[in-house]
Amino acid sequence: MTTFHIRPLSTGVDRAGFACGQPVLDEYIRRHASQDVRRNVARAFVATPARLPEQLAGYFTLSAGSVRCADLPAALADRLPRYPIPAALIGRLAVATAFQGNGLGSILLADACRKVVAASAVLAVAAIIVDAKDAAAVTFYEHFGFRPLPGQPHRLLLPVSTLPR
Ligand SMILES: CC(C)(COP(=O)(O)OP(=O)(O)OC[C@H]1O[C@@H](n2cnc3c(N)ncnc32)[C@H](O)[C@@H]1OP(=O)(O)O)[C@@H](O)C(=O)NCCC(=O)NCCS
Repeated sequence: MTTFHIRPLSTGVDRAGFACGQPVLDEYIRRHASQDVRRNVARAFVATPARLPEQLAGYFTLSAGSVRCADLPAALADRLPRYPIPAALIGRLAVATAFQGNGLGSILLADACRKVVAASAVLAVAAIIVDAKDAAAVTFYEHFGFRPLPGQPHRLLLPVSTLPR
């Protein structure tokens, strides 16, 4: 079984050949992620096989965001204040086609959630939100407890309170 290392995006990782089946996600890591990191609009993390540290197997990004109270499911909104609640956004998450179906997507999602929980010790975060690219991605996130926001079937949310500390 392949062991992966997950670390912040840096030079020395081959991004040019990354292909996950969603061209917009390939294009993002190839051309835009570094700039977003420099501008402090996203943090990007890459997974590389332990034996091949230049090979990009997958990545995800995290940014601060918020969710309007009116957009939340009623059961959750009832327990929260009426103003926008602080959230962490998993802006993008992708696994290269060659590595799909072997658990790396789950590993990346779990790592992203752990990082959010750690950050929430110093910067309050009530929920994690993701924007799924298509119906298959919605199913992937639902598998881990994310639920679509009412009226926004491709935007899903997981309350941070459901995650282990
Ligand atoms: C979605 C994606 C990240 C999944 O990565 P992966 O490494 O193949 O996923 P895993 O092997 O960890 O699978 C985890 C579980 O999700 C399920 N799953 C994986 N991909 C799925 C998909 N496209 N649709 C539905 N379920 C999926 C698997 O069956 C698995 O379930 P199991 O634990 O019961 O076996 C990957 O297919 C990908 O990068 N796709 C293209 C980009 C994309 O759609 N990104 C999503 C964010 S917009």
